[in-house]
Amino acid sequence: MQKLLINGKKELSGKISISGSKNATLPILAATILSHQVELKNIPLVRDIFTMIDLLKFIGLKISILKNKKIITINNTNKNIKTLAPYKLVKTMRAGVLVLGPLLAKYKKAKISLPGGCAIGSRPVNLHLLALKKLGAKIKIKNGYIFAEAKNGLKGAKITFPSISVGATENAVLAAFNAKGKTILKNCAIEPEVKDLIKFLNTLGGRIKIVGRKILIIGCKINKKHITHEVIFDRIELGTYMIAAALVGKKIILDKINPSIIRNEVDILKKMGVRLKVKRSTIEILKSNKIKKINLSTKPYPGFPTDLQAQLMVLMTRAQGISRITESIFENRFMHVPELKRMGANIEIKNKIAIVKGPSKLTGAEVMATDLRASVSLVLAGLVADNRTIINRIYHLDRGYEFLEKKLKNCKARIRRI
Ligand code: UD1
Repeated sequence: MQKLLINGKKELSGKISISGSKNATLPILAATILSHQVELKNIPLVRDIFTMIDLLKFIGLKISILKNKKIITINNTNKNIKTLAPYKLVKTMRAGVLVLGPLLAKYKKAKISLPGGCAIGSRPVNLHLLALKKLGAKIKIKNGYIFAEAKNGLKGAKITFPSISVGATENAVLAAFNAKGKTILKNCAIEPEVKDLIKFLNTLGGRIKIVGRKILIIGCKINKKHITHEVIFDRIELGTYMIAAALVGKKIILDKINPSIIRNEVDILKKMGVRLKVKRSTIEILKSNKIKKINLSTKPYPGFPTDLQAQLMVLMTRAQGISRITESIFENRFMHVPELKRMGANIEIKNKIAIVKGPSKLTGAEVMATDLRASVSLVLAGLVADNRTIINRIYHLDRGYEFLEKKLKNCKARIRRI
């Protein structure tokens, strides 16, 4: 099994280009079920994307990847489509459930494995199913599978989500794309990745509008046979490297980004004393002398993302005084805390709140990655710690971070995979 070895305390300087967003690419790939021919640019070459491609190939789409150009072309003219997402392809990547909406919309039926839980919580799909039922689908759960059917096609409806879910919003938009009439979705997730999906669907001929937390959809047919779409940058990857630079950067430039999407994160880092310069398509982070404490809570966009909670916690260990971070999205997303404590962090968990007493001196240790973002927080801790850190189970990292070691090594980090 592969491990990462990091020799910490090395100041980083250089440039990191931010990759395309994994969380935007996944629903857009699911959306290609609705399309004919698509070219997707700025695709991140990470494992979750390859798993989604395997799922689409299983369904019957023809896909080719130009790895050096980060382009995927999809041809969906095959008549022999399977409306099935098997357990083996959904169990490792929950976003597989996003093929439910488009399969139902286009082929009027789908059989999708229930994704099951994962390290960060039970992760149900009740909100996805609630929306699809309101659009007229008949749904049964049997033998670990969702059986969905809409014999006469889906019909537009008014749906208010009882709580905000990125995946459920995306599945509902995908299903309503060609439903008869008008659909109004209320209390939606409005993450930049949801907006990128809608941009893609509108290029395909859709009539979808976002107004506040409302999404309005006029059901329509695809009117473009061939389209091209460039996926937005990965704001979580950007946030991760911003925090890495705040921890050990001398001067790091992060490019291929649009700073307007991450204003909140930039403000939070500034409040913590991080010195940064925001330009049109880059952020430059300079050596920060004193990190200040902060209290905050993870929230749906435009709030602070749960996907950056573990990384920010590492920065909190460097701050003077007591910082608090409340995890309000997932029930069990403090798996990195025991490992950070083994590296010398002073963190106490009280229900949904992590109380971080800083500054503490982190020292290298052998630690274990538990999920994607927890893993990368251990990489950040390793970069700032004394001596050597060994991170086990790094396959989690490969699900979502493209060329992580290479990008850090280019900035002079002492990191290698064995
Ligand atoms: C997406 C992101 C993930 C991010 C999360 C929250 C992708 C591929 N993944 O995951 O990186 O951490 O948004 O920003 O884009 N919930 C229900 N019922 C449902 C669906 C969700 O109760 O049917 C709950 C979840 O358990 C969780 C909360 O809603 O507590 C938010 O989850 P959701 O926004 O759906 O996350 P994902 O779309 O799975």
